[in-house]
Amino acid sequence: MGDRLAQVAAQARAVADAWSPPGAPASWWLTAALLRGIADDEVLLGIAAELPPDRQPALLLSAAVRWLAADRGGELARYFPEPGGAQPAEDAGFRPALAAFARAERAELTRLCAGHRYQMTEVARCLDVLPVLAAVAADDPRPLALVDLGTGAGLGLWPDRYAYRYRLPDGSERQCGDAPLRLACEVRGAAPPVPPSPPAIATRVGVDIEPHDLADPATRAWLAACVPPEAGAVHRFAAAVELALADPAPMVRGDVVDALPEVVAGLPSDTLVCLVDTYVHVFLGPQRLAAFHAVLAGLDRDVEWVSVDPLVPLGPEARTTVQGLDVPEHWITENRDGGVFGVIGRVSVRDGVRRGAVLGRAHPSAAWLDWLPGRRPAAARSRAGP
Ligand SMILES: C[S@@+](CC[C@H](N)C(=O)[O-])C[C@H]1O[C@@H](n2cnc3c(N)ncnc32)[C@H](O)[C@@H]1O
Repeated sequence: MGDRLAQVAAQARAVADAWSPPGAPASWWLTAALLRGIADDEVLLGIAAELPPDRQPALLLSAAVRWLAADRGGELARYFPEPGGAQPAEDAGFRPALAAFARAERAELTRLCAGHRYQMTEVARCLDVLPVLAAVAADDPRPLALVDLGTGAGLGLWPDRYAYRYRLPDGSERQCGDAPLRLACEVRGAAPPVPPSPPAIATRVGVDIEPHDLADPATRAWLAACVPPEAGAVHRFAAAVELALADPAPMVRGDVVDALPEVVAGLPSDTLVCLVDTYVHVFLGPQRLAAFHAVLAGLDRDVEWVSVDPLVPLGPEARTTVQGLDVPEHWITENRDGGVFGVIGRVSVRDGVRRGAVLGRAHPSAAWLDWLPGRRPAAARSRAGP
């Protein structure tokens, strides 16, 4: 049990580091404090360590704490931001409030964790995908058919419905589109290709093994609890849900590997199929990931695959991308020591020939984007992937 406690505590701290590394905006304090609180509190750590490892115990428990705190009201609830509101300030009362809550609600937290999965969805990842879609659209005149793999609530199915602002290191900005929901990030590396308006999407479909029914208030409440408790993330989730509810997109229930051939076969033949996966393939495991690469190679159709996923295998041994592409060596060390980030990659298949490139990396909730200069997809080492 001691090993398990240490493992869960390390995972909680690694996720805290990823979301809120040194220099992160102050609004990320609570996300980090909640996860570090789980790592440091014996009651909370004990609850998390009893959960199956594949349930992302620390994150699942953080969502349960948030959900229950909102339900109960009281001292702990005041630290969590509301949609459209400011980030409540950090103060010395948070840790004692969390510890008291854990002791008062131990049984209910355990029950909540047993009955739920951690289902985080982050619409801001469209900031990472948009420059790749722009590059795809610039390279190929065919209309885009977007397939969002592991779409969850389907918020990534509408990259053409949001507005984007990229703040460059020199203080200038690049903007794309004009829409009520404006996603924004800091660019750390080269300037990404940002078009004046999002590329047109001719048709779209989401695939998920367990699509979220946003029409169900209980589902919405649980998904909201899984969003990091950062004011910007909370606000944009609520705004994106409103948009999705008003105009639901087509959704297929199925496994990304098994469903892909039929989904792709159903898309108009004059479109360029553009598969997008954000934080999905990282969870497939080596065998299913290899199966996905095999299905991709057998599609018999030109296809793009945009991936935003942490390095695999998840954990300290991580070295490569889910697309089987190499990354700069220092990313591997930084991923291990400084917390995970999403690697942005593009794989293009044309006439059966596969090319790929890593284009950048990004904060898990897209607060920053590190874009690599001058990258173009090059012939991959292997047509079958990693
Ligand atoms: C971490 S969430 C990411 C959701 C969304 N792509 C985002 O970035 O906000 C992972 C999603 O992938 C789905 N998923 C995981 N494994 C899957 C599989 N084998 N086939 C289809 N969907 C899967 C989960 O149900 C969940 O909705």
